[in-house]
Amino acid sequence: MISIFSNSLGKEEHHALEGVFASRWLGAGKECSLFEEAFARHLRVPAHNVLLLNSCTAAIYVGLKTLGVGPGDEVIIATVNFVACASAVLELGATAVFADVDQHTLNILPEEISRLKTPQTKVVIILHYGGHPAPMAEIIDACGPEIALFEDSANSVSSTYDGQPCGTFGAAAVWSFDAMKILSMGDGGALYLRNPVHTDIARSHRFLGLSGQTVSGKDAMAANRAKWWEYELDHLSGRFISNDIAAAIGRVQLQRLSGFIETRKRIWAYYQQALADVSALTLPPEPLPGCESSYYFYWLQMAPDQRDALAHYLSSEGIYTTFRYFPLHLVARYNAGVQLPNAEWVNATTLNIPLHQNLTEADIDKIVAAIKTFFASLA
Ligand SMILES: Cc1ncc(COP(=O)(O)O)c(C=O)c1O
Repeated sequence: MISIFSNSLGKEEHHALEGVFASRWLGAGKECSLFEEAFARHLRVPAHNVLLLNSCTAAIYVGLKTLGVGPGDEVIIATVNFVACASAVLELGATAVFADVDQHTLNILPEEISRLKTPQTKVVIILHYGGHPAPMAEIIDACGPEIALFEDSANSVSSTYDGQPCGTFGAAAVWSFDAMKILSMGDGGALYLRNPVHTDIARSHRFLGLSGQTVSGKDAMAANRAKWWEYELDHLSGRFISNDIAAAIGRVQLQRLSGFIETRKRIWAYYQQALADVSALTLPPEPLPGCESSYYFYWLQMAPDQRDALAHYLSSEGIYTTFRYFPLHLVARYNAGVQLPNAEWVNATTLNIPLHQNLTEADIDKIVAAIKTFFASLA
C-alpha cells in the first residue's frame, strides 16, 4: 500500500537518542529547551514565547485557556479543521461558531468572520489548509483589534505569508509534531503566544498549574528555603509536558525540514503538471502570491459521484487516500445546526492523495496512471 502520510526518521535521529539515553534524563529537560530555542529561531520569534508540549491538541487547549476562553465567549472556527480545535473550545465552556471556507483553497473566508462576529467573539481560529497560507491581511482586518487571532499551524510548519512565518501573525498559534506530520517526534506540539506574560501562564498550565516560583527540592535547599519540599499551585491543570526523547528527535527533524519541503514541493509540481489534462478534475490552487507552502496535502476535486468511486479504485490498486478534514459543523456530537454550503460541497468532492517525502518516482507514476485509468474508464 502506498501510504498517504509518512515521516522520515533515520540514522541522525537515532544518533541523537543515544545522547539522551546516555544522559539518563528522559523527562522534560535540556533537549526540550533546545528544541524550543531552535523552533523559535525557525519562526523568528523570541525563544521565551515558544513552548513545547506533548501534543498539538494540548497546545490548543492550553493556548485557549491562557487567552481566558470560557463560558459566555464565542470562538469562530473555520469548519474545515480537526476536532481538536472545536472540542477544546467546548470543553472550556465556550461556544463554537463555525465559518465557511473557500471551495478550492479550503481556507476560511474572511467575510465569514465579519458575518459571524458578535460582541461575545473572543477568538478566531484559522487553519492554513494543506500548508497554503490563508489570506492573512483580510483575516486580520476582519478580526479587528478586539478579537484574538489563533492560528492552527499544524499543516504549515514551514509556510510563509509575505515572507513572515505562518503562526506568528496572531495572539497565539499551534503546531503538531505527531506521527503523520512533516516534522515528527512521535507526538508533540508547540504553542506560540505573542504576549510573554501569556507564555508564563501557559507554562504553568502545561505542568499541573505549578507556580513558576516552584523549583526542585535540591535547588530550594541550596537556596536555603525553609520548607524546601513544598510547592505552590497557580492554577488547576493537567500534565502536558513533552520529554527529551521526543525533543531530541524533533531537533534533528527541524534541521532536515527544508529538505523534506523541497521534495514535497517537487511532487506537488509533478502532480499539477501530470494531472492537468484530466478534465474531470479540479486541481488545487497554487499558494497565494508572495507565499510559501509546506505542501502538507495535495487535493483533487471532482463530481460527488466520482469521489468515493475513485477512492475505492485507488485503494484496490494499493494507493491509500482520504479526505481531511470532515467539516466540524457536520460532526454530530457538536450539534451545530448550521449549513455551510462551500464546506459541504468540499466534503462531497475532495480527495487527498499521497504527498510525502518518501514517495518514489515509481509510486508517483503509479498514482498518476491509476487516476488517469479511472477517469478513462468513465469516458
Ligand atoms: C489541523 C490539525 N490541528 C490539530 C491537530 C492535533 O494535533 P495532535 O495530533 O498533535 O494533537 C491535528 C492533528 O491531526 C491537525 O491536523
